[in-house]
Amino acid sequence: MLIANVSLIPSYDMLGMPILPWIVQVLMALTLALHWSFLAMTAGGATAYVVNRYNSLNSDTVALKGLSAFLPFSLSMAMTLGIAPLLFVQVLYGNFFYTANILMGYVWLGLLVLMIANFYLLYLGFWLSKHQRGVRCVGILILLLLAGSALILSSNATLTQSPQAWEAFRANKGIALYLGDTTLLPRWTFAIFALLAGGGLFVAIYALLRSGTKNETAGRAISKAVLVSVVGMAGILISGFWASRSLPQATRSSLFSSGESVFAYAAAASFVLALVLTLSSWFKKSVLKLGLSAVLFFLGLLAMAALRDTLRRIALGKQLNLAEIPVHSQWDSFALFLVIFILGLMLVGYIVKEGFFNRPKLQVGG
Ligand code: HEM
Repeated sequence: MLIANVSLIPSYDMLGMPILPWIVQVLMALTLALHWSFLAMTAGGATAYVVNRYNSLNSDTVALKGLSAFLPFSLSMAMTLGIAPLLFVQVLYGNFFYTANILMGYVWLGLLVLMIANFYLLYLGFWLSKHQRGVRCVGILILLLLAGSALILSSNATLTQSPQAWEAFRANKGIALYLGDTTLLPRWTFAIFALLAGGGLFVAIYALLRSGTKNETAGRAISKAVLVSVVGMAGILISGFWASRSLPQATRSSLFSSGESVFAYAAAASFVLALVLTLSSWFKKSVLKLGLSAVLFFLGLLAMAALRDTLRRIALGKQLNLAEIPVHSQWDSFALFLVIFILGLMLVGYIVKEGFFNRPKLQVGG
């Protein structure tokens, strides 16, 4: 009875912020964009399993040789780079985020089950692709599990910023997704299209670097990847527009009357330019164009990560004002983190470049 009368919103950490909030916000956006990029690479590989025919040695898929070995690595990097924003979310919104985690308890932990199943499927895909059969089904399953994981994440993110719904939602005892937010569906759709857009781009660049532009057989695999990316980017623009229309009127007015609306415009501009460049690569395959498109796509993800933080602060406006939380800066710990973070990113970049892109070119199709 006593517990029933206690507020479900814990107070913020008594120790305050260990660093200025804007630094945490920048790092959170950066690490989230990296997290999504590696997820997109994994989804791109799975999509390549679905749209290509892995049935003869001299098929399109020779250009994708080595890709299946990359996928367990890219998913593990996505997970590792998911832990970083988890820590930053904890610093800024820990009292809201963890309450949402607990209220969705079993579903939230179900994410781990999906991740473990996905690792097994990625290894199965690696094995089957060598034997040239059954890969399409595995690809579909991997994509479904990624879509399921994205739904859990989006549901949890919307529950985090809806404390007014917590009291009623806790009757579900942790076994339900939170579906009460008007932006949930467009948010989830956006995530799925972003996985396809980034994934297609990654596979196209991978196959192009491995086989050169003049090879017709490889060209089919590249064209399919470019098409997947174009569909994904068009979907991003449509679902982004849908997401903005589904925001509550008050939230939309606050966003577009504040300077932070620049994130929405920056995201839209980046994705439109990326779409144009990717589309033009359909006619003339070019690593430069696709590479530039990948950079623009990443900038779009970065802007989206910043935008979702802005929307969260607007939604929590009544319960939380970051400016009011005392800051007790710990610059020495922060400097240590920064050095390790930069070294870690350099190491990941080195592994990706040497392990997967720097291989000798394939002689495809004679
Ligand atoms: C152990 C694995 C993972 C970790 C640690 C992780 C971590 C995170 C974190 C911390 C956030 C921000 C949460 C927030 O601000 O409320 C996030 C967002 C997100 N993650 Fe992951 N993630 C993981 C796996 C995945 C997987 C497999 C997917 C599938 C595609 C995924 C897709 C997303 C999406 C779509 C969002 C944005 C949700 C939204 O704002 O609507 N994550 N992730």
